[in-house]
Amino acid sequence: MEERKIDALSPIRVGNVLFRNRIIAAPTTMHSMSNGELYPTEDAIEYFAQRAKAGAGMVTCAGVKFGDVADDGEHANWDLSVKNHRNRAHELAERIHYYGAKASMELMGIFPDGYTVSDGCSIMGSPPIGREIPISEMEKFKQGYADSAAALCELGYDAILFHFGHNIPVAQFLSPLTNHRTDQYGGSTENRVRYIAEILDAVRERVGKKMILEVRISGDEFEKGGIGLEESMKIAELIQDKIDILQVSAGMHNPKWMTWTHPCGFRPPVPNVYLAEAFKKSGRFHIPIGTLGAVDSLEEANVIVSSGKADFVSIARGFIADIDLIKKGMEGRTEDVVPCIKCMRCHDSTVYGTHFVCAVNPRAGMEEVYDRIEEEPQFCKKVAVIGGGPGGMRAALYAAARGHDVTLFEQKDHLGGQIVFADYVSFKYPLANYKNWLIHQVEKGPIDVKLNTKATPEMIQGYDAVIIAIGAEPLIIPVPGVENAVPATSVYGKEDTVGKEVVVIGGGQVGCETALHLAKSGIKATVLEMRDALAPDASTTHRDELMVEIGKEENFVTVTGAKVVSVAKNSVTYIKDGKEESISADTVILASGMKAKMEEADSFVPCAPEFAEIGDCVRARTVEEATREAFYAASNI
Ligand SMILES: Cc1cc2nc3c(=O)[nH]c(=O)nc-3n(C[C@H](O)[C@H](O)[C@H](O)COP(=O)(O)O)c2cc1C
Ligand code: SF4
Repeated sequence: MEERKIDALSPIRVGNVLFRNRIIAAPTTMHSMSNGELYPTEDAIEYFAQRAKAGAGMVTCAGVKFGDVADDGEHANWDLSVKNHRNRAHELAERIHYYGAKASMELMGIFPDGYTVSDGCSIMGSPPIGREIPISEMEKFKQGYADSAAALCELGYDAILFHFGHNIPVAQFLSPLTNHRTDQYGGSTENRVRYIAEILDAVRERVGKKMILEVRISGDEFEKGGIGLEESMKIAELIQDKIDILQVSAGMHNPKWMTWTHPCGFRPPVPNVYLAEAFKKSGRFHIPIGTLGAVDSLEEANVIVSSGKADFVSIARGFIADIDLIKKGMEGRTEDVVPCIKCMRCHDSTVYGTHFVCAVNPRAGMEEVYDRIEEEPQFCKKVAVIGGGPGGMRAALYAAARGHDVTLFEQKDHLGGQIVFADYVSFKYPLANYKNWLIHQVEKGPIDVKLNTKATPEMIQGYDAVIIAIGAEPLIIPVPGVENAVPATSVYGKEDTVGKEVVVIGGGQVGCETALHLAKSGIKATVLEMRDALAPDASTTHRDELMVEIGKEENFVTVTGAKVVSVAKNSVTYIKDGKEESISADTVILASGMKAKMEEADSFVPCAPEFAEIGDCVRARTVEEATREAFYAASNI
């Protein structure tokens, strides 16, 4: 194989530590996996160890809290004050070391007792709470940092990540938006940095040069009156002698700025790199600078490192979507890396959910379990997959990877199913990338693809197994004149035919995204939603981001609590607050949901000895469910 020089994989020495490469697995809390335990559970240990096994130079675990440690309902808060907890934390470090990576732990700076930096400031975008933390408590809190750092050093960790960005509680000292103190910790940049600097000094005093201290800051908070690029550099200059690596992130932890902390489709690809680059180019820093944010492949990381824009690249979601991204990159197979669709289901599932999930990687967080329980098929079977949408394609890929002889039937002249719409929507480009990845994988795989072929039960005779993924169809609401409306799915690519004003019936995620897409193209889009909130079906973080984008769009008009009673060619009549109203439109668009093609799906069930229905034909849902069901179905054939 041709040897390629990959700068992102070149070793780098920082202080006393030699990193095998410049890729850092960014911290991702394993809250739901931790089951409320205040120590790294086996699931969490394995999750982080997998990142080391996958080739990261350093793995940042999340995380250790101090002070009054309890399950905060969102983060894995490991408590190092208990001996048995320390044992598990030690095991975590060693399981990472086993694979040749350095082990880092994030220290979570969440103030106790509802204290905040200043009176009435808000934590992570919540309503204003809290009393200004007094200096006596700050001293205790600082001591907590130092004690935890000393414990981590003793437990064999190589590094600590201090999260002083995203306007999380401790970082709120840094920002003029949240720090309104009048003592020596408020006012000038020097004063606002003072407490952070004291924490770092206290930690260094305890761990000396034995540990790498990495600090994450926001290179720009983007909000008026907040930290901008110049001030973030000034902050970094004031602490750089106390730390070893500076990680330049962006944004704040509130709905408005989370599209930067966890860049999504509303942002361009790798949108934060320019900040690290500015730090590097300024010539003001003598420590390595890291970047992160939507870096999803070794190739992207390599471009960043080799062009000198950053020395380290941290990756969170890229590893969740495809744990093999380094391996594939080394083998020159970047095209095979599963693209992250930036849906934030991973985040929402681990923070607010019941079990950690990824929309495009059903093995996420369970890699080792599946490696263990997956059984080789006894013999190569003839498998028919009906439907070339995301579920069907993924099922075909999984079945083919297991060595089966797979035929994929698609009635249209192209693959992609419901998600082809992503090609037309600027902010859905990560989903379009995923769709293109699926198509490319199917086309190059050993799969017999039959386009323009509407499968019938007769055609499936003779197959050993059938996976039915025929999807759903628009749900037509029973109101007079509904035939005058066009389904949302048929609008994409034909935006120039809908006129200047549209009414979208249904304000779920699909309706909102359709309306937003049209509004962004200069079309006035009024959404009529029966419930009192838009997009309640969207994942929490994505919904937050969507609402922020909708809020920016003058062309997007929302009418909630509106029950549609009739539709005419150019108008819709609805009842709101007991009053009947009409609204005119050049086109009326129906986004009132999808209906599973259950009956048609069932007709294929008797055709083969083994069968499974997956995705929207079971119940109209998301890529996540379709992908998971595809994996389960194929894994059992
Ligand atoms: C599932 C998930 C959990 C996260 N948990 C943490 C956390 O506990 N601490 C933290 O500092 N950042 C956390 N983050 C943020 C990531 O470390 C990273 O900053 C962010 O996801 C952007 O990187 P990416 O685009 O490579 O995902 C989390 C992100 C995700 C997706
Ligand atoms: S759940 Fe969504 S955002 Fe998270 S890694 Fe998977 S595809 Fe990306």
